[in-house]
Order: sequence, then structure tokens, then C-alpha cells
Amino acid sequence: MATPSVPEEPQSFWIETSDTTAYPSLRGQVSVDVAVLGGGITGLTVAAHLKRAGMTVAVVEANRLCHGTTGHTTGKLSSLHGLVYDTLTSSFGEEGARAYGEANEAAIERVAALCSEYGIDCDFERVPNYTYTESEQEVSQIEAEVQAAKRVELPATYTEESDLPYPIRAAVRFDGQARFHPRKWCLGLARVVEGGGSHVFEETRALSVEEGRPCRVQTERGELEAGRVVVATLLPFTDRGFFFARTHPEREHVLGVRLDGPVPHGMYITAGSPTRSIRSHPASDGEVVLISGESHKTGQAADYQERYARLERFARERLGARSIDYRFSAQDFYPADQVPYIGRMRRGSDRLYTATGFKAWGMSHAVVAAMIIEDQLQGRENPWSEFYSPNRLKPMASASSFIKENANVARRFFGDRLMKRQSLAELASGEGAVVADGSQQLAAYRDEQGELHTVSARCTHLGCIVSWNAADTTWDCPCHGSRFGVDGEVIHGPAVKALKRSSPSSLPSEGESGEA
Ligand SMILES: Cc1cc2nc3c(=O)[nH]c(=O)nc-3n(C[C@H](O)[C@H](O)[C@H](O)COP(=O)(O)OP(=O)(O)OC[C@H]3O[C@@H](n4cnc5c(N)ncnc54)[C@H](O)[C@@H]3O)c2cc1C
Ligand code: FES
Repeated sequence: MATPSVPEEPQSFWIETSDTTAYPSLRGQVSVDVAVLGGGITGLTVAAHLKRAGMTVAVVEANRLCHGTTGHTTGKLSSLHGLVYDTLTSSFGEEGARAYGEANEAAIERVAALCSEYGIDCDFERVPNYTYTESEQEVSQIEAEVQAAKRVELPATYTEESDLPYPIRAAVRFDGQARFHPRKWCLGLARVVEGGGSHVFEETRALSVEEGRPCRVQTERGELEAGRVVVATLLPFTDRGFFFARTHPEREHVLGVRLDGPVPHGMYITAGSPTRSIRSHPASDGEVVLISGESHKTGQAADYQERYARLERFARERLGARSIDYRFSAQDFYPADQVPYIGRMRRGSDRLYTATGFKAWGMSHAVVAAMIIEDQLQGRENPWSEFYSPNRLKPMASASSFIKENANVARRFFGDRLMKRQSLAELASGEGAVVADGSQQLAAYRDEQGELHTVSARCTHLGCIVSWNAADTTWDCPCHGSRFGVDGEVIHGPAVKALKRSSPSSLPSEGESGEA
């Protein structure tokens, strides 16, 4: 049998198997009760909840709906997030673990209810979710997690059985969890949002938010006037809460494969390293199995091929993959204390809201965000809002991680300026690298036709030096995760301005595009 190989080009299973969208761009001035910035699962779920509660909303998406992390996820809808309850109990007590578990369980039920209420066909199906180990040394962690989850009345059991094609040593099993098609769910919500004074705008990047009564959102094309603003751009691009310093970005890689043998129906993640996350999803021509792992800090890896090769080996040798049909990558932000930031962006303001730091568990957390923010905007109590508050006072749980991540950013900020760089002449077709050009550093890419694309390597967020991402043909910032195309255009914030266009000193300058 021929060895299946990883596709040359990235392609998302979720985007390929759902409709394309063509919502208009924002033009002129529009007034609504709430502006929701970002059209991923968070923005759309929040917007649909607010509209359902009687508010007018406008979703503003820089690209097309769910082409960000939501379009490149593994998409398990669960309250079992690896091993989390034992740690939460240690840091936040049983009360914290209970809030986390209850909120995420409620999120699964809310998705089920809204699918019925609005007739959203997103392949929603109840399946168990497992965190498993093959190692004797990790059994005690599994046992501790089962106990911690049971103490807060979650649907946890200890098991040594699974429907994986290889034996496991032990697992935490949560029943009543779900698999669904995250993009079909989101497009269903977008249909709910649009109309009756509410809007969905695509290809409209928000550039700034002025807090006031009303708030004003400037976009590339027009202006939004809104009583409240929810920033749901994965990491807030308008950062009143320094979320970029309280989280760190990690990219993770996914393969979509087809198997020779029986397909596992349950959803799985390993308890230890290396992380392997597994789930299947029905497609028109049989089940596709998604396998993710090999995560690393954004902009801090160069060995993409090896990472995909390791996933491929796992798919082939452990699961019996016959073909590898998809490969894609995405990133999420990790909060210092394991708890996402959801609610009022800063103390004392009831105008700006956000939801970020989902640490690769944003399917249920997007819905938790919608429930919390809806209650806050309605002036109602919410049982989980204090626990998830972006302004919470629980520094001890996060102090060491906070210091470590910000030391890493400082090392990248200063160290990358001093690195020895290759010369432009050494750059082969299809290759990108940061090259030295006099006193400046250029991000240079030579395309397959030999044409050279050069921009300043200085990130427009806070000035770190970007690095080359050969898997996605992008420039990624190692500090807070901004990503740019080869001609400098913003793909991913927190940066909102393009990398400055800049020619090597031997060539004439091509003009500027507005560095901060
Ligand atoms: C590989 C991988 C696997 C994962 N697997 C799971 C899983 O199994 N289960 C789970 O629960 N979670 C999982 N996650 C996490 C989950 O996918 C994310 O937490 C979730 O998709 C985040 O959704 P979001 O809407 O907040 O962000 P996004 O989907 O990134 O949406 C943000 C949107 O904002 C837009 N935007 C950005 N800046 C602007 C601007 N200035 N103006 C207008 N729009 C803007 C972007 O274009 C984007 O569309 C995974 C994550 C990764 C990376
Ligand atoms: S993302 Fe902050 S400096 Fe680049």
C-alpha cells in the first residue's frame, strides 16, 4: 500500500464542506444597539443571543465568516477540556471548578436547544468525550480528574475501554458531549442575526473603537454607532485590558484523514505529551477523522514539515489512515490561569465587552460568552460571570505563567534584533526569511515565479520581528500572534495595520502603507 502523504496546500475540512458566504461590506454609517466585532463562533453566537433578547446588532467581520480559528478547529463541543478540573480545584477551589463545569455543560445544552429552535442543521450528535492515557505513570492523573469532576457533579466516569483501534490504559469519560459542524452552526446563526434592523457585514475590518454614548467603531469602509461593543476578534484588537500580555498564542496543526478500518465514534485527547486530539465527522462520502496536535508558540517554530510528518505517522501507524485529505493550522490564546476572559473589558465600563483566551476550548466557551454577555447587557445576574471576569483578582494562580510568557516576549523583542540574518541572494523560490538590509530587517519572500516580495519585518502591533511560517506562507509575530500575508496585509490581529512596504536598499522604494 502506498504511504499517504500530507497535502501540499492547506485546506480546511469545515470551510470546504459548508456554504460560501457573500454578506455585504459596511458602507456609510449604521446605528445598532450592539456592535459585535469578529464573525467567528464567538461573535456570531453572542450576536444571535443578543438579537434573540430583542436588541439590534451588527456583526463586523474583517474576512469571510468563520475563516479564522473557528474555520480551522477540531470542533469538539464538550465540558471535558483535557485535564482541567483537578487543576481548577487546586487554583480556584471546588466553587471555581463547578462554575467552569456548569457553564460548559450549559453551553452544550444551549447549542442543542438553539439547533431545534432555529432549525439549524449542523450535524449535531451526542457522543462521549475522553481524555485518555496509554501510560501507567499517568493513571493517577486520570483518577484525580475523575474524582475532581465527580465532586462538582459532572458526567464523569473512569474507564479502560474506548473505540480507538489501539488499547488504552485509562481514561476520563464524559457522556452527553457533542460533535457538530462548527461552521454550519455559525452560518445558521448568521441567518438568525440578519434582518429586522440587524446586520452581518463581511470584508470590513474594524480599526478603532471610541468608547462613549454612543460608542463609535471606525472600520475600513464605514462607521458603526452602537450603545455597546463586543470585541470577539479571538484576541481583542482594541486592547483596553492588556489581554496580549495576559495570554500567549499557540498554533496547532490538523490533519483530516480517512481510515481503512472502523472509525472511532467517540472524541479523544491524550492526557500527556505529545498531544493528539481525535474526532470523526460525517462527510458526503464517508467519515473524515480529524487529528490535531504538534502545537507551538506562534512564530516560534520553523519545523512545520516535521510536525506534519509526526501527525501523519500517528494517523497511519496508530489509526490506519488510508489517505490524508486535509491539512490546516490555526491558533488560539492561552490565559495565564487557565480561565478564559469573558465580560466587561475593564472595570467600571459597561460599554465594552470581550471574550478571549479560550486555550483551544472555544466551542463551548463561545456559548458561555454569549450567555454571560447577554445577562450583563440585560442587567441580570449570571452565576459564572465573576469566575470568568476579565477583571478578576486571582493573581496567584497565574503569576508564574504570566512572568514566564512576558519574559519570552521580551527575549523575542530584543534577541530577534540581534540575530544573524541570511542575505537576499540566498533566498530560493518558494522561500521566506528575515534578511538584513543595512540597519533594517526585511521580511522577504521569493514566490514560485521568482518574484521578490519585501516588507518591513517589524510587527505593527508593538514592534517585534516577525518570522516565516512556511506551512501557511505567512509572516507570524512571535510576541502576541499577529499574522501577515507576504505583501504585509493583516491576516490576524492584534495588529490592525499592514507591515510597511519596504524595498531592499538596492531597489527603488515602493511607498508606504502606514506603520504605527
Ligand atoms: C487546531 C485547533 C483545534 C481546536 N479544537 C477545538 C475543539 O475541539 N473544541 C473546542 O472547544 N475548541 C477548539 N479549539 C478552539 C476554538 O476553535 C477557538 O477557541 C474558537 O474557534 C475561537 O473562536 P472566535 O470566534 O473567538 O475566534 P475566530 O474564529 O478566530 O474569530 C474571530 C474573527 O474575528 C475577525 N477579526 C479579527 N480582527 C478583526 C477586526 N479588526 N475587525 C473585524 N473582524 C476581525 C477574524 O477575521 C475572525 O473571523 C481549537 C483551536 C485550534 C487552533
Ligand atoms: S503581535 Fe504584538 S508585537 Fe507583534
